[in-house]
Amino acid sequence: MLQYVEELDLETRTRTKGVIIACDFPNKTETMKFLSVFPDRDIFVKIGMELFYGEGPSIVEEIKSMGYRIFLDLKLHDTPNTVKKAMKNIAKLGVDMTTIHAAGGKRMMLAAKEGLLTSTGSTLLLAVTVLTSLSEDILKQELLIQQSVEEVAIHYAKNAQNSGADGVICSPLETKMIKLACGDDFVAVTPGIRYAETNDDQSRVATPAMAKTLGSDFIVVGRPITAAVDPVAVYSRILADFLGDV
Ligand code: C5P
Repeated sequence: MLQYVEELDLETRTRTKGVIIACDFPNKTETMKFLSVFPDRDIFVKIGMELFYGEGPSIVEEIKSMGYRIFLDLKLHDTPNTVKKAMKNIAKLGVDMTTIHAAGGKRMMLAAKEGLLTSTGSTLLLAVTVLTSLSEDILKQELLIQQSVEEVAIHYAKNAQNSGADGVICSPLETKMIKLACGDDFVAVTPGIRYAETNDDQSRVATPAMAKTLGSDFIVVGRPITAAVDPVAVYSRILADFLGDV
């Protein structure tokens, strides 16, 4: 299995559809315990801020060396020069995907791409459009953004595409419009996946089957899997619902 994963080229590893598990754990021990219950390593693992800041870059190297595909989700948002230099270091880790905030502006996104291209690796650069935890009310009242969530998401997606990003992180609810505006090859990775209404921090949500219908390339699922009594069973159900007959 490990050899098989290593042999996959970038196209196969990143352009096919899939389910990414957000391993939002505080440390390596809990992450490894969680991953160990899965029968194989043909899994796309998301390492986010909690785990990365808890363990440092070595956690990325370790999980990668075990054969897992990695989405390093650090959502960079700073001055162009700082982001470029940070991306140079991220590029060395050789992850499959990484993130920036489109709200950082076109110059920042171009700088991120430049930083990423300094390494021989081929990491996909994805721009967060509007966080799936934000609602239209929050945009209007807290952030003073008067346009609809959809308008903002599409506008940010076009900016990202024009700045060299390979795709976006968006809600499944905005995928169709973003694909219409940016083309089908522009990758859409969508968190905010839920089977039922919840009272957690996600706002613009959809089921795995809805995300499939709406055109997501990858869905990112955290707590519905990580907090489940039987994570493997929930992951398998989500995989079947999302991939269906693809
Ligand atoms: O636990 P849950 O399924 O809500 O996890 C979703 C994951 O997707 C989290 O790790 C979160 O950081 C990430 N994410 C998100 N919204 C974005 C970008 C990333 O929820 N716009």
